[in-house]
Amino acid sequence: MCPQEPSVLRRRGAAMPASSGLDLFANPVLTDPYPTYARLRKLGAVVHLDAHAVWAVPRHADVAAVLRDPNTYSSERALALTDEVNEVVLTGSVVASDGAVHARLRRVLSRQLAPRALKSLATGMHEHARALVASLPQGQVFDGVADLAAPFVADTVMRLTGLPEQDRGHVLDLADAVFDVFGPDNARTRAAMPRAEQMFTYLDRVATRQRIAPDSWLGAIHRAADQGEIDETQAVQLMLSYTVAGMDTTILAISTALHLLARHPKQWDLVRNGTVASDAVFAEALRLEAPVQFFGRRTTRDVHVGDTLIPAGDRVLLLYGSAGRDHAKWGPTADNFDVTRPDCRDHLALGLGAHQCAGNHLAAMEFAALLAALTARFPTLSPSPDETPIRRLHNILRGPRSLPLIAA
Ligand code: HEM
Repeated sequence: MCPQEPSVLRRRGAAMPASSGLDLFANPVLTDPYPTYARLRKLGAVVHLDAHAVWAVPRHADVAAVLRDPNTYSSERALALTDEVNEVVLTGSVVASDGAVHARLRRVLSRQLAPRALKSLATGMHEHARALVASLPQGQVFDGVADLAAPFVADTVMRLTGLPEQDRGHVLDLADAVFDVFGPDNARTRAAMPRAEQMFTYLDRVATRQRIAPDSWLGAIHRAADQGEIDETQAVQLMLSYTVAGMDTTILAISTALHLLARHPKQWDLVRNGTVASDAVFAEALRLEAPVQFFGRRTTRDVHVGDTLIPAGDRVLLLYGSAGRDHAKWGPTADNFDVTRPDCRDHLALGLGAHQCAGNHLAAMEFAALLAALTARFPTLSPSPDETPIRRLHNILRGPRSLPLIAA
């Protein structure tokens, strides 16, 4: 259902809603969305984006309120901006389900992703991080994405899921496409769609009971299906929770945090001398540069956000990236990187409530392991003076594609 015209809303006696014709997915906005987010926050608690037929929610307090109310703001057929993707790609997934179905799917993942279950991975993860950091050249340029964050995260995911190591590049490429299709019906979404569909074909072909170790994370999903806890469609969807949701999100979060630390040597020192813990650094980086810039919801009833009435069935877009810069929440230093910010853990970049990121503990562990290895080996981390990072332009993800750094 399309959002209703402002005139319809006026007839119902609601205040005239703020609306905007801007395209959130135009390259200049994707490159630097923050002035646009500031404009949206100023316009209202909710702003109708005519180009995308969706209500944007740009302020921290309102994004949090929506996330806390899954009965009014459904995730079913709501996460992405097009009906096609909500139907074809997301139906049956944990992230796009509500209520009891959601709880059942989430329970299957929690067996692997709960902190208690992850504990046994810590030693291996730290060894892996130390080995990777040991391979970096002392005092010479390396790429924080290609040489560090991407292989570390992708190796971790491939090993835990039980997928063949040599498929790493292919899985990364397909995972990127699955996220890109969350955007509107634009060129980027259309170009990504065939690769997004290939992820399903790939998992059908490779993640079979015959080829996947029973004690791996994908093996556990097969077991849940064999025991009748979930059906086969849900099994493939749950596999995406690791192979898609656990990949670029974490690669971008880690590389963004490294980028910020490299540009703020005093804050790097605070981490090195143990004044600030890795989880605070991670939270502050996530707040400032949310790797996932938005997810959608659909209203199940007429509801007011601020003084605007949103009709039942309309789509809302939760702008996590904007919430992280909201001066009303973070004060005048909202745009600064500050690892000592006392409330940085209030960020919404991992969601909140029922759908809060199921992999957030794993992501934090991965970052902690890499940061510990880096700070143990290198007194300094700095941006390369000769090369600039290249930003990745993507419908929903944000962060560097390449990140030239020097550690010495
Ligand atoms: C720093 C890295 C990550 C970021 C920024 C991130 C971001 C998010 C966000 C914003 C949500 C909320 C979705 C919503 O409210 O609709 C979410 C959910 C989810 N994430 Fe993450 N994520 C990260 C890492 C991971 C990892 C490592 C995994 C798995 C290995 C993972 C698996 C999931 C799953 C399964 C959900 C759906 C949870 C549910 O619907 O109950 N994520 N993530």
